[in-house]
Amino acid sequence: MSSIIILGIESSCDDTSASVISDGILLSNVTANQSVHANFGGVVPELASRAHQQNIIPVVHEALRLANVQKTDLNAIAFTRGPGLLGSLMVGTSFAKGFAQALNIPLIDVNHLQAHVLAHFIKLDISDLDKPEFPFLCLLVSGGNSQIILVRSYNEMEVIGQTIDDAAGEAFDKCAKVMGLPYPGGPHIDRLAKTGNPKAFTFNKPQIPEYNYSFSGLKTSFLYMLRDKTKENPNFITENLNDICASIQSTVVDILMNKLKKASIDFKINQIALAGGVSANSALRQAFYDYEKKYSWKVFIPPFEFTTDNAAMIAITGHFKYLDNQFCKMNEVPYSRVTNQF
Ligand code: KG4
Repeated sequence: MSSIIILGIESSCDDTSASVISDGILLSNVTANQSVHANFGGVVPELASRAHQQNIIPVVHEALRLANVQKTDLNAIAFTRGPGLLGSLMVGTSFAKGFAQALNIPLIDVNHLQAHVLAHFIKLDISDLDKPEFPFLCLLVSGGNSQIILVRSYNEMEVIGQTIDDAAGEAFDKCAKVMGLPYPGGPHIDRLAKTGNPKAFTFNKPQIPEYNYSFSGLKTSFLYMLRDKTKENPNFITENLNDICASIQSTVVDILMNKLKKASIDFKINQIALAGGVSANSALRQAFYDYEKKYSWKVFIPPFEFTTDNAAMIAITGHFKYLDNQFCKMNEVPYSRVTNQF
């Protein structure tokens, strides 16, 4: 039986990425990051679209070269259709359509969030078999999303809880900004928290029904606490930076884990996966391992390169959709908004 070889294209935000996967095994994963946004404290959509235009062809060439695959060997092209920045998505979508049309092979549209979940199934080699079993729960936490997803099969997932305002990564970034840390602030908080006391300061946790999250209240109470304390002592932030970081980090992690535990009990599921850029956070990872011991969970945390935006997760999702004959018409268009079912 011949292999199924999928080219994945990701361009939903500020990373241009291409990946080749053969029978679920990773052959290449190439990403061009965009340094152009560094001075703006966040991604500038217009600049992101332009940079995607510059990067997409060289990135795809490099992914094919590293995989040692000819374009005529490809069985299908998978691309991120949404959610994301529309201008960025249009670059990847248009490229994928043109390439699939030229090669006369099927086109597969991929939901970026489904792809974050299915990143767990990327195999690094043939013996890489320790993967979640269905059904499982996935906590997807990134700069734009905080969701608990019930994963019934590769192509059947339901968002059972999500943030009603800010995402967890956004909360980290906004709190970091208030403390004068560079963007994105999440990794800085993580680094500084390592030598801080997580119990030094307490913040109100939101009371939100079901499995939903809210982080905007936490951000506001953090802001007010710092404002009041710096009135008393102008050096409060610098003198307590590590403790402040450890305390806010532990509060965010507690909020995330409490809802995940509730979902695990209610749905009677103990296979629990983590996905998205915030999964790099060391306290969150530790909480996953602690809960694994305490509540007999089996936890899955993907390698770092598959937690941030990458095309390998798009290619693996394309692989499973290909097996299910789920293809996309040439007149489909990208979407920017999050959907509840994928
Ligand atoms: O998934 P991702 O790469 O892209 C977006 O959805 O934007 O996630 C980026 C987010 C940012 O908010 C960043 O601050 C956060 O992930 N992040 C972290 C850490 N590493 C990245 N947050 C906390 N601790 C970290 N170590």
